[in-house]
Amino acid sequence: MADRLPLMAGNWKMNLNHVEATGVVQKLAWTLQDKRYDPTKAEVAVIVPYTDLRTVQTLVEGDKLPISYGAQDVSVHVSGAYTGEISVDMLAKLKCKYVVLGHSERRQYHGETDIIVNRKAQRVFRAGMVPIICVGEEWESRRKEGHIPFVLEQLRWCLTDLEDEWMRKLVIAYEPVWAIGSGQVASPEDAQDMCLAIRSYVATHFTQEIADQLRVLYGGSVKANNIRDIMAQPDVDGALVGGASLDPEEFAKIVLFYQEA
Ligand code: PGA
Repeated sequence: MADRLPLMAGNWKMNLNHVEATGVVQKLAWTLQDKRYDPTKAEVAVIVPYTDLRTVQTLVEGDKLPISYGAQDVSVHVSGAYTGEISVDMLAKLKCKYVVLGHSERRQYHGETDIIVNRKAQRVFRAGMVPIICVGEEWESRRKEGHIPFVLEQLRWCLTDLEDEWMRKLVIAYEPVWAIGSGQVASPEDAQDMCLAIRSYVATHFTQEIADQLRVLYGGSVKANNIRDIMAQPDVDGALVGGASLDPEEFAKIVLFYQEA
């Protein structure tokens, strides 16, 4: 794997209020420290509900924790009369590093399209943060072996007009919809095939150098007991972890995948 720093991002989804967030982040930090976590081997991030962000920021800054954090979505608008929305400037002010965009649950329940993801990605970069753009096929598409063209088509729209400077920082998460929350993890080979296809697409449409730097994550039923095989794949640079990230001990084991079993 080139010199890409693996990223282990825990997507809490709509779980853990700000009081619970304090406990989980403290326990995660404590467990990582106890197990001699090395930040040069993997980056760890928590992707939390908006209402938890200020709490997590205060903990991370106050205790200088080696944990990045970010949000699960953001508004496509800049500011103004958009009741219920949160802007990129609000997230940047909270020093978020990452913003997840286009998660399959946003696509399914909130009509998020690739074009919206692309517009949000441009806003996130302009505000100085890094999008984690999620792509992935439904089971039907994989069954018919159309999954690679499907995901590359999603990417085509999601990456439109993204500047080279931005692309060097971008994170892409491949999350097959059928693997999310189902316990049915993709095989390491399937994860590798798609992550390689994504990297090759970026090499063709941007530059090889950008493709070499790009971090491509796998997501979907990642657990402590399957992370090593997934991370052994040359084009998989980390994981977007849902359910297993709510348990700080389990998540710490995932982050520490590089240690001897
Ligand atoms: P899961 O979710 O790990 O619970 O399958 C992954 C995700 O949705 O990011």
